[in-house]
Amino acid sequence: MKHKIRLGALMFTLPNENTPDPMTTVSSLRTRFNPSLLGVPLEQPRLQWTLKSEEATSRQVGYQIRYRRAHRAEWTIAQPIASTVSIAIEAPGGQLKAREVREYAVRIATDAGWTPWSEPFIVEGGLDPDSLTAQVIGIPTEVEGPAASLRREFSLDFEPMRARLYVSALGLVHPRLNGHAASDTYLTPGWTEYRERVLVDTYDVTKLLKRGENAISLLVGDGWYRGRMGFAGRTEIYGSQSGAIAQLEIEGANGEALTLITDQTWHGGFGAIQSASIYDGTMIDLRKDTGDPSLPGFNETEWAPVCVIDCDRRIFEPRPVPGVHEIATFPMSIVSGDVSDATLPVILDAQQNVSGWVRLKVSGQPGARITVRHAEILEADGSLHTASLRTAKATDTYILGESGTVELEPILTFHGFRYAEVTGPVSIAEATAVAISTHLQRRGTLTTSHQTLNRFHENVVWSQVDNFVSVPTDCPQRDERLGWTGDAQAFAATANTLFHTEAFWMSWLRDLELDQPEDGSVASVVPNIISGDASMGNNEINDMGRAGWADAATIVPWATYISTGSPLVLISQLDSMRRWVDHLRTRADAHTLLPEEPFQYGDWLDPDAPAAQPWNAKTDPLFVANSFYVHSARILAETEALVGDQRKAQEYADLADRVAFETWKRWRHEAHETQTGAAMCLEFRIVPDDERAELADSLATNVRAEHGRIATGFLGTPLILFALSHANKWEEAYMMLLRRDPPSWLYQVDRGATTVWERWDAIKADGSIHAGDMEGDGNGMISFNHYAYGAMIDWVYRNVAGMEPIEAGYARTRIGPRPSSAVTRASASIETHFGMLSINWHLVDDSLEVSLDVPFGVTAQLDLPLTEDSQLTINGAAASTSSTTLRHGHYTITASRVSVIHVDAAAS
Ligand code: BGC
Repeated sequence: MKHKIRLGALMFTLPNENTPDPMTTVSSLRTRFNPSLLGVPLEQPRLQWTLKSEEATSRQVGYQIRYRRAHRAEWTIAQPIASTVSIAIEAPGGQLKAREVREYAVRIATDAGWTPWSEPFIVEGGLDPDSLTAQVIGIPTEVEGPAASLRREFSLDFEPMRARLYVSALGLVHPRLNGHAASDTYLTPGWTEYRERVLVDTYDVTKLLKRGENAISLLVGDGWYRGRMGFAGRTEIYGSQSGAIAQLEIEGANGEALTLITDQTWHGGFGAIQSASIYDGTMIDLRKDTGDPSLPGFNETEWAPVCVIDCDRRIFEPRPVPGVHEIATFPMSIVSGDVSDATLPVILDAQQNVSGWVRLKVSGQPGARITVRHAEILEADGSLHTASLRTAKATDTYILGESGTVELEPILTFHGFRYAEVTGPVSIAEATAVAISTHLQRRGTLTTSHQTLNRFHENVVWSQVDNFVSVPTDCPQRDERLGWTGDAQAFAATANTLFHTEAFWMSWLRDLELDQPEDGSVASVVPNIISGDASMGNNEINDMGRAGWADAATIVPWATYISTGSPLVLISQLDSMRRWVDHLRTRADAHTLLPEEPFQYGDWLDPDAPAAQPWNAKTDPLFVANSFYVHSARILAETEALVGDQRKAQEYADLADRVAFETWKRWRHEAHETQTGAAMCLEFRIVPDDERAELADSLATNVRAEHGRIATGFLGTPLILFALSHANKWEEAYMMLLRRDPPSWLYQVDRGATTVWERWDAIKADGSIHAGDMEGDGNGMISFNHYAYGAMIDWVYRNVAGMEPIEAGYARTRIGPRPSSAVTRASASIETHFGMLSINWHLVDDSLEVSLDVPFGVTAQLDLPLTEDSQLTINGAAASTSSTTLRHGHYTITASRVSVIHVDAAAS
């Protein structure tokens, strides 16, 4: 059988179905979801795969997918498809049904023949609202007061062969079965736009059950649902009662089955947890611990029947992205105090700023009270700096119930900290900082010869880890921890390079869209809980549709598409993107420009803005707003061309050009004056082509005159190095990148930072801590863990290491390392969906030696810093110095007489 399909200008012919390609194999197959996720959303699965081939010229020309219900012998084999695509492939078999377990395998056609079938990949559907018969249950509780446990015993008269626990909450839930945690996730179900969607976790709990008596318990906390959230101190934002929902489905070997659901037959009561709050921490009185309610035989005589909480179960949907997990642990060292008797405070150091908590092993007498306070840095006198927490108490308190050694750990909370102060009449045997985050797989790694740059890269990784606790937050420590859209758009490209984030963003963008009102404007924080609460400098502000924040609606999907090559995020966000740009269009005046507004965040935290007015940046906020309008319209035009309507693509491209023209006409002068102005005009294609070079010169002159001093805020910072390097201003780009004096990236590292700071001068040159002064806000604003300024790390991967996607998903990658006198070696890897792309280069005098691994499906385009005198060898053979492309394989490349960027010694 032969199939032909016209793909673009290429005609592919599929090989005969019985012709094997013995040189090529499918090395992995998966769906778009994290492979560890059970109970995925009930959609038509989307597959992606990676290939390996011994044959250098081999390429995919088609694929064939087969599938079957798990453990059935018979496969259904779909028609072969002629295609070079290997991501976001709509799999045959239709939408997954609730609980359905389906196996997929794929084989690939190359020009030579067919690969063998891949190992099967198993995908399992979660529950839809129709199959969720459980009810949300709870008992009356005080807001952030004692945490209720709900429990039920049941007996099994068969040996469990397969068991699934589906669980969620209005609030937080921590399920246990027969004395064990049902999973290793925390803060379940995470934070989404709860009014519309609450995620349901699926756990395999087969091993926790047994024939005979069993018990299940659900510890319930208020979390984001009912606890205090946001700077206005509001509680009960989503509802006045917290509760949990669970459905336990158990099967035996001979068709036996038992389903246990939360309903009015359960009982609820209290134990040791006296209070639990995300911002404030927990109070655990172990004297009130009456045992583990998840054990059969637990004495529940003091417990009461639960009530059913009225709730529309259609809000529940299967989790598309992993939950929050323990990511790492750090043994804490002693900074001061006496661990054998912590009656006087003991200060402990995790060496790393994390989101999470302290796990303590202590011994003391019953009734001993232990307090654990948290902070990101220490004051000069060695005490905790708590000003950055604002009103968040971030304190866990324990009262011991018995003598002897006991392990203490909070639950239903998290803190942003590096240091902890432990006080109480106990001896501390062990202290461990537990770091938590959404369990995303790492994607990018990077090290260079520049140790300080390496540490900054690590700081950015940690700021992402710490701020990806369920939603992409501004910071993890103070009474905020909100999904600020401006921070997210600034950081998205870097986030996508460092971790596999597609499902994470797609879930959050779904909330962004749900929070988008009729008029198409976009919230400043998602999930949006601040509208009506936000004020700046004593004035209430309109937090909807703010420039550079609301543009997350277009920028985050686009950055994700470019990084992954999967159009799914564009397909699902297209309507939201359109509504945002159309909203801007209706706000714009007759001359196409957006009008003056009472408030914009502007180039937030520009180092030249008054410390107490971070919105008062030197680049005119209206110029910024119109530039981002152009950017969003251009992104939408490209998105329409790819996955939408071609006519609209033209319409939005024309709109972008018109707004760009007017913006340039009005702010041309300012573009030449400010770093952010120039960077926006260059990167968003606002400057006309014939004035580009002149503008780039002005920017470079500015950067030189300032000795690489960064003069950009949240909006200009992600753009500035790209604006320089795209204009070949490499010396100036490196001057900024490696500058040590504040404001600069590396200054923070020199000051001991382990995560990225919110303000360039969070710790001043004299060692004093920024007061965080904010006009009209007595509590100030200072954080040592904000990822926005770390947004330039994506540039470092692309230009220092030298791996840049020039076609979405790295299908075509520019290999363009730019060695400098200060960075003479770099090695980096990015796990693209094609497989691992990696580079390792070093400079020997003026010769560049590169070791490069290109995965199957990727074309690498060499863009080495060659001079007229350079000679190039690839795998030992002389090669042409003009426009070389390489297919998959391992390459050793040498280039002599390369140009080396000179970096001022002060920066290195
Ligand atoms: C947050 C920021 C955010 C800003 C906007 C701050 O409080 O921490 O990161 O983008 O407010 O106003």
